[in-house]
Amino acid sequence: ASLQHLNTFHVTAHAPRLLQVNDPASLPEVLATIVGNNPLLVLGSGSNVLLATDPEGTVLTFANRDITILEHRADHAIVRAGAGVNWHELVVWSLGEGLSGLENLALIPGTVGAAPIQNIGAYGAQVGDFIQTVEAWDTQEQTWARLDQEACRFGYRDSLFKHEADRYLIIAVEFRLPLLHELRLDYAGIRDELKAMGIDLPAAADVANAVIAIRRRKLPDPDVLGNAGSFFKNPVLPLDQVNVLLQHYPELPVFPGNDEGNRKVSAAWMIEASGWKGQRDGDAGISPNHALVLVNHGSATGAELLALARRVSASVLEKFGVPIEPEPRLVGAQW
Ligand code: FAD
Ligand code: EPU
Repeated sequence: ASLQHLNTFHVTAHAPRLLQVNDPASLPEVLATIVGNNPLLVLGSGSNVLLATDPEGTVLTFANRDITILEHRADHAIVRAGAGVNWHELVVWSLGEGLSGLENLALIPGTVGAAPIQNIGAYGAQVGDFIQTVEAWDTQEQTWARLDQEACRFGYRDSLFKHEADRYLIIAVEFRLPLLHELRLDYAGIRDELKAMGIDLPAAADVANAVIAIRRRKLPDPDVLGNAGSFFKNPVLPLDQVNVLLQHYPELPVFPGNDEGNRKVSAAWMIEASGWKGQRDGDAGISPNHALVLVNHGSATGAELLALARRVSASVLEKFGVPIEPEPRLVGAQW
């Protein structure tokens, strides 16, 4: 089966078998039909994978797209969404229900089932803060599992699910969404955008609209130019190292890290300063609009995109002494 429509780089790749799960309750039976130790790969919409070679085993997708309010309280609601729900549709739906929390995460591509994997984040918000429970099939223990927020070990672009890749097949996510909360307006131009929209007292839906406008300007649309969003994570470095870097490069953008002892620095800035923005090698390129975005100008292969990414990271390491690591899942390759 072709996977070209199932990855936003639009690289050519094939899987021996592609299985769509409509009813997650049937998952144990479905898995029993997969012969032997055929390795499984779950895909949502493929907006965070680089298929470097063909996957070896069965590719599974989830098509359960139900959204239910499990509990409605005075100050919050518990919402359950199926793994196959489109992420942005959930954001829009929740705002329409008068629920907030997800507004800064508007327009992130992909599915609900994939959202916990890298703890999707943007504009100062991370989805893990609003996740109450992840429902999954545990392929190791062969049982259903309900993982609470703490068990998910959410971090910056990180979770338990990254450390135990492919162990948990996520069938649904339960969110705890406040009816009212303090809006996060500090990050990257949200206030300016709201001002330009003529909004003084924003509601959550206004913040979502501001984020949508900023994202449309900054990030290439994968339907037009294949990409997987940021290709590299922003490295989190010890404060001492950041201070040394700032002595040499005072313009390096620095953001809060995990705690007082470290800071996140901008990989995009270092890539641009290394001369890569807008460069291309054949059909593999670095976006002219955003240096963190690896793009497919047409018929680049996964291997060609990966080769360019390696050259970019090698030059950042040489110039800044900082290793940068891919954010998307690499299928069929090790970094
Ligand atoms: P896929 O790419 O299909 O899969 C990603 C990973 O999750 C894989 O390891 C896969 O095996 C696993 N997986 C998927 N579904 C399941 C499941 N049901 N159970 C178990 N494992 C599963 N990300 C951000 O965090 N912030 C952003 O601002 C952002 N902006 C982006 C902008 C663009 C233009 C693009 C193309 C991507 C962007 N991304 C961003 C990355 C991407 O949108 C997210 O990582 C998203 O969660 C991926 O969803 P998906 O359904 O496409 O997952
Ligand atoms: N910058 C450059 N050159 C560029 C682009 C950006 O120097 O070509 C500088 C900007 O000037 C800015 C800084 O880099 O000071 C940060 O840029 P931006 O606000 O675009 O954010 P980012 O760090 O590049 C992160 C996430 C995005 C998320 C945005 C907004 C990571 C790896 N990426 O990008 O997530 O949308 O913040 O919050 O953390 C993704 O994960 O796929 C993704 C797009």
